[in-house]
Amino acid sequence: MKTINIGIIGIGTVGSATILLLEKNKDLISARAGANIIIKKGVVRDISKTSKDIKIPLSTNIDDILEDEEINIVIELMGGIDTAYEVAKKALKNNKALITANKAMLAYHRLDLQNISDNIGFEASVAGGIPIIKALKDGLSANHILSIRGILNGTCNYILTKMTNENITFEECLKKAQKLGYAEANPSLDIDGFDTAHKLIILSSIAYGINAMPEDILIDGISNISQDDIFFANEFGYKIKLLAIAKRIDNEVELRVHLAMINQNEMISKVSGVMNGISVIGDNVGETMYYGAGAGGNATASAVVGDLIEIIRSKSSPMLGFKKSLESGLVLRDINSIESRYYLRLKVLDKAGTLAKITSTLGENNISIKMLIQKESNDKSYATLLLSTHKSNELNMKKALDSLYKLDVVNNKPFMIRIEE
Ligand code: HSE
Repeated sequence: MKTINIGIIGIGTVGSATILLLEKNKDLISARAGANIIIKKGVVRDISKTSKDIKIPLSTNIDDILEDEEINIVIELMGGIDTAYEVAKKALKNNKALITANKAMLAYHRLDLQNISDNIGFEASVAGGIPIIKALKDGLSANHILSIRGILNGTCNYILTKMTNENITFEECLKKAQKLGYAEANPSLDIDGFDTAHKLIILSSIAYGINAMPEDILIDGISNISQDDIFFANEFGYKIKLLAIAKRIDNEVELRVHLAMINQNEMISKVSGVMNGISVIGDNVGETMYYGAGAGGNATASAVVGDLIEIIRSKSSPMLGFKKSLESGLVLRDINSIESRYYLRLKVLDKAGTLAKITSTLGENNISIKMLIQKESNDKSYATLLLSTHKSNELNMKKALDSLYKLDVVNNKPFMIRIEE
């Protein structure tokens, strides 16, 4: 049997789990790959901080891997964007295969890398252990993808589930998620929706052959959610999730990440805690659902090693799934034209005429109310209005939110959640 030497750059949670998995399932993995796999070197920032369970040769110099001609495959698990991109380019230019879990780097540079080589595995970059990249690239490749709806960030789903089930504040839930090792080093990447957006953008490249950048799409985080929103959702049979949505409408693709109220009977609304879930609708297959652990060392290592086996088997397919860009007629939909129903929470003065001002402001922006609840506020001169609207679009809603905020009867910046149907 042949021998394949690999190098691992970054030995944190995922790196350690990858090394341990290669040891634990060694015989199975080499039988599936048809090769003995030797971890020739690991690169870390500080050798003294590396776990004593890691028994491979260590270095702090990335070139010890990138310039070693005996190393065939580089596994990049260091995170960050710029240095990781330089590492990826150098590995590919030195004729090594690359495996990466780095969604932020791929969100910006996937096409640049594909232009250097297709010998790249990145299953671990989206939804941890769920093989969604292989599903889109191979299993569903005969379909036009009509939509993708995903819960792609374990930290946010954990926070939203805990807030819903246990009535705990947002800050407490975030601290717990950080303790459990789900959150990114910079929590803004999770709670402001960027991590989800990076993953959506990677999926959309494979599904549609488009090259969107994070700056081009609608991204809203979860940090302003309150118990009032959860009350409204419960009252009307919704669950609140941070959703990544890709939809094809004629020759446009809309990409968005935001809180969404989803009917509680839909399968995706049942994806709870740190788990991830993705619904993909193909024009021929209909709806398919993927569910599993989207974060954490073991689940992510499963995807890294799956890529390793595939690369060693030399199965050649284009990195982003298109031999030639058949879908190049597709364009990204302008954010202002995206249509949805909306939920609004407003803190308003509890006095005569307030409701009239609110409804006429919405009416002036062509927004029609579907349901409305008024709740007492702790402060007796104010009330909380919770309402949902009929379908409108982002431009009308943006204008309405600005006008509502300017009304003398509205106290706080209005809070909005899109309703996904
Ligand atoms: N911070 C990410 C999450 C880790 O919570 O899902 C996996 O990408």
